[in-house]
Amino acid sequence: MPDTEYGTYLRIDELLHLQHPLTPDAHDEMLFVVIHQVYELWFKLVLHEVDSATESLLAGRPQGAIAPLRRVLSIDEVLIAQLRVLETMSPEGFLRFRDPLKPASGLQSGQFRAIEFACGWRDESRIDDPMLTPRDREELHRRALLPTLYEAFCASLRAHGVDAPDGEGDDERARRLNALRLLYGEHGDAERGLLHLVCELLLDHDEAIARWRFHHTLMAAREIGSRVGTGGLGVGYLRSTVDRRFFPELWEVRTLL
Ligand code: HEM
Repeated sequence: MPDTEYGTYLRIDELLHLQHPLTPDAHDEMLFVVIHQVYELWFKLVLHEVDSATESLLAGRPQGAIAPLRRVLSIDEVLIAQLRVLETMSPEGFLRFRDPLKPASGLQSGQFRAIEFACGWRDESRIDDPMLTPRDREELHRRALLPTLYEAFCASLRAHGVDAPDGEGDDERARRLNALRLLYGEHGDAERGLLHLVCELLLDHDEAIARWRFHHTLMAAREIGSRVGTGGLGVGYLRSTVDRRFFPELWEVRTLL
């Protein structure tokens, strides 16, 4: 068997030939292309790790979810930190190449939507969003039939004898909240300690993505002010997304303690 070679294994040559700015001599467009591509690679890994955590939780093995969730949290921090790199671009630098980008926009990031679907924020009206490619829409349809990360966590609670039913009815919700209240109140033994740790890792992830949404909104405001976004919306829309939560019940339970 031939020795593995760095560039061949990692397909560096192909990777470095995937950057094609549209406007000649617009210096900052290379940054814009590279940073979006890097985000999409990290999104790919987030989905890989979230799927792994979901699988372990569904199987009633919360210990198997700790490592992938910790990795997701580290990536979340990178996603936030990267926005600072983008903020080295001035608004006038952006305007030099912005017009030909329309209607391309982060709204068309199928993987970002897939992360929302996998974790627990599912806006069914997005499934057939014409902004997405047929492949992205197909992937959202597939994910819409799978348990969310939060539903998988509830499956782990049940596997450990906790009354945390699925379902969106008032009764199911109240029983889940009560189960969480009891778990937060008493998690001294190893088994409950592990379930409590998973709760807090999920909350960390939710908070990190909300921080990303907030910072992305500020970054967009400093780049485009109140202009309409390339995808037809703008900073007002982004502000409306900052309160989206993957695991609202983990926030709600705090009031009940
Ligand atoms: C100069 C840089 C950027 C600006 C000015 C900007 C601006 C915007 C605006 C205004 C929107 C709302 C939709 C629209 O009107 O087009 C949006 C959506 C979005 N952007 Fe950005 N963006 C930038 C960079 C990025 C980067 C690097 C990412 C990383 C993938 C990203 C991800 C997203 C996502 C995922 C959405 C959809 C958000 C949602 O629906 O919740 N953006 N962006």
